[in-house]
Amino acid sequence: MKDTFVEKAANWDSPDKIKMTKIFLSEMLFHINPQSSWKALEIGAGTGLVGLNVEPLVGKVVMVDTSESMLEVLKQKLHDDSKVELLHGEIFKYKQQDIDFVFSAMAFHHLTDVEKAIQHLATITKPGAWVVVGDLVTEDGSFHSFELIPYCGFDTTVLSKQFVQAGFYVKLVKIYNVITRTIDEKTTNYEQFILIAKRL
Ligand SMILES: C[S@@+](CC[C@H](N)C(=O)[O-])C[C@H]1O[C@@H](n2cnc3c(N)ncnc32)[C@H](O)[C@@H]1O
Repeated sequence: MKDTFVEKAANWDSPDKIKMTKIFLSEMLFHINPQSSWKALEIGAGTGLVGLNVEPLVGKVVMVDTSESMLEVLKQKLHDDSKVELLHGEIFKYKQQDIDFVFSAMAFHHLTDVEKAIQHLATITKPGAWVVVGDLVTEDGSFHSFELIPYCGFDTTVLSKQFVQAGFYVKLVKIYNVITRTIDEKTTNYEQFILIAKRL
């Protein structure tokens, strides 16, 4: 799989990205109370802006990402006694059914097949496990300057149905943030949703 983040990795941790991930984290942690006994898994961990803040709260975090360059930046931040396990590749590579908590910020729109990924999550999570997804609501493609990506955001009704069909109860879907960008004098608001599902 081509690493499309090579150019972005070294400068990923910008003040904007740090702010964006903090907003997601505080919304997620308002609803979920991670436990030290939990094994967590992050999809599209990137440089660890979200996952490294979850690490102290849980027993272990598996951080999954397809970009070697993003994982390389993340690796530099890990301490010797780190509770992080890095997994280079797609979520389908993870096969154990021992996960208590899955989270993902702004990565679902990069996945090759979201429905298949959700179905896979049902096979690696324990009953009662929480899944938290933060991503964009359907947009016109301008968020990535019309660069080809698998999903231009999501219709949260469709996404919720995919979770339900895979064996989850959807507890919450809400817009938790709006990103405003002005390009060529055109201002666009991009809504970010959070979806919280529980494995039945
Ligand atoms: C927009 S970045 C978000 C990174 C991080 N979650 C954050 O908020 O800073 C998307 C991340 O998803 C990763 N990614 C893209 N496709 C993926 C896939 N199929 N499976 C897992 N990770 C993927 C990218 O390499 C990148 O690190």
